Amino acid sequence: MPKKHTLTRGRQAFLDYYTKLLPQFDTPEKLNAYLTTKNPQVILVSPIHESQISGLWHKAGLDWSPLPWFPHTLVWPKNVLPGTSLPGFREGWLYPLNPSSLLPVLAMQPQPGQSILDAAAAPGGKTLAILNFLYPKPVSLIANDVSLPRFKRLRTVLKRFGFPEVVTARHPIQALPHILTAGSFDKILLDAPCSSEKHVYNSKRHLKIWSENRITTLAHLQKLLVDSLLPLLKPGGTLVYSTCALAPQENEGVVEYTLSRHPLISPVPVPTLSLPRPVSASWHTHSSSPRSSTRHPPAKCS
Ligand SMILES: C[S@@+](CC[C@H](N)C(=O)[O-])C[C@H]1O[C@@H](n2cnc3c(N)ncnc32)[C@H](O)[C@@H]1O
Repeated sequence: MPKKHTLTRGRQAFLDYYTKLLPQFDTPEKLNAYLTTKNPQVILVSPIHESQISGLWHKAGLDWSPLPWFPHTLVWPKNVLPGTSLPGFREGWLYPLNPSSLLPVLAMQPQPGQSILDAAAAPGGKTLAILNFLYPKPVSLIANDVSLPRFKRLRTVLKRFGFPEVVTARHPIQALPHILTAGSFDKILLDAPCSSEKHVYNSKRHLKIWSENRITTLAHLQKLLVDSLLPLLKPGGTLVYSTCALAPQENEGVVEYTLSRHPLISPVPVPTLSLPRPVSASWHTHSSSPRSSTRHPPAKCS
């Protein structure tokens, strides 16, 4: 962990700003420790190639340890350095991700046969998690992302992992209400573009261009994206909103804004996850629960 006196001016300004914003980090040092700690990853396993991969791992003497709370997912093997290329990576049969990325999918609780829209899907971690969650049951899923390079990566990830048949689209979410049929989705995931403070803090290039205004601009976009997606929900459908941002404006702020503008929409309780946190919230078009959002620290692997 860098000591305070080694911090660049940009990092110090960032820490000072966020420590004031987030009472849970009562000192800049605690926030710095949080932002610089690397969390152990978990690995989504292609269910189509699972027996081949487990054979390869067995041969290589690797510890095959399924994550107890998510199907077709492994805990990073013991005694193997993070970032090591494991058997199955080269083929695209494995997808490493932060365990907290699985929590919006648990909040969504996709059911077989439901129509699902993953509205900001690239590069595809949560799309794969939805597919693994349901496998081998049928799902009607559209994975959409506006960015061309990220969309290409999404297509490649889906193909190599073993789900080439998933429908993909490359539209701005703001245009989707004019392209897709209103009221046609049981579940929508909006894993929104956000401040990604951890990423920004650890990237010189991004830290240089960071400003407080970025939060306001992103919160404005996030509200617009939620507003664009709501008409696509079936009556009784659920939209899950998640970010990896720390800023309350981009999280609770977006939830509160949405609930205040749409009286027919009620928050649904996020399933009680005995796991520590990303930041996610979900809404249902009718429900009486008042709990609309939840913050999770990095989720534990076991
Ligand atoms: C947090 S990332 C999504 C990560 C992805 N869900 C995953 O798990 O791999 C947010 C995504 O939103 C996309 N995006 C940003 N603005 C968008 C818009 N207006 N319409 C559609 N996608 C957008 C970005 O290209 C980016 O890929």
